[in-house]
Amino acid sequence: MSRSTAPSSPTTTATEATNGRLRLFLPDLGATRELAARLAALLRAGDLVALEGELGSGKTEFARAVISARAGMPLEVPSPSFTLVQRYELAGLVITHADLYRLADPGEVDELGLDEALGEGALMVEWPERAGDRLPADRLTVRLREPPAGPPGARIVELEAGPSWRARLQALAG
Ligand SMILES: Nc1ncnc2c1ncn2[C@@H]1O[C@H](COP(=O)(O)OP(=O)(O)OP(=O)(O)O)[C@@H](O)[C@H]1O
Ligand SMILES: [Mg+2]
Repeated sequence: MSRSTAPSSPTTTATEATNGRLRLFLPDLGATRELAARLAALLRAGDLVALEGELGSGKTEFARAVISARAGMPLEVPSPSFTLVQRYELAGLVITHADLYRLADPGEVDELGLDEALGEGALMVEWPERAGDRLPADRLTVRLREPPAGPPGARIVELEAGPSWRARLQALAG
């Protein structure tokens, strides 16, 4: 065993942490949930978390874990792919979870009350690309993807921190 290797969390390895960007390897769903729990602890009103990644990459799973961790108990967190917006009134923080996949036009986002959601609490958005430039640029982007060669259940996550997230980014590495 190498003694020169820096200690790392057992399930998460940071591979890059420069310029407000951090890339982590998540070996399994448990690691995704651990990252989500760290994010939940850092989340505050006015925060936008943009969840990017292909269908089935784990955006809803990640949001579910953030909401449950912040609630301190497992909550039923359905995918908002049909309702588009779900609101969770938790002790100390309202979290709104939105999924914009079904938006036909970016202009429709103005009717969803996402400004109000950011005004009263934190907002996590799946498929933020569908909103065009109608969401604030200052955000934490969480980009999930499956690694090209397994193992099954593994993900690579890229975190990109806007100005309000820079100071919190390192804490997300665990
Ligand atoms: N490490 C992991 N992180 C996240 N999800 C994982 C992981 N390993 C396996 N999964 C599984 O992958 C699936 C991800 O589905 P999920 O609904 O979260 O995807 P999504 O990105 O929200 O898709 P959509 O774009 O359709 O909304 C779930 O069944 C989840 O349990
Ligand atoms: Mg989803």
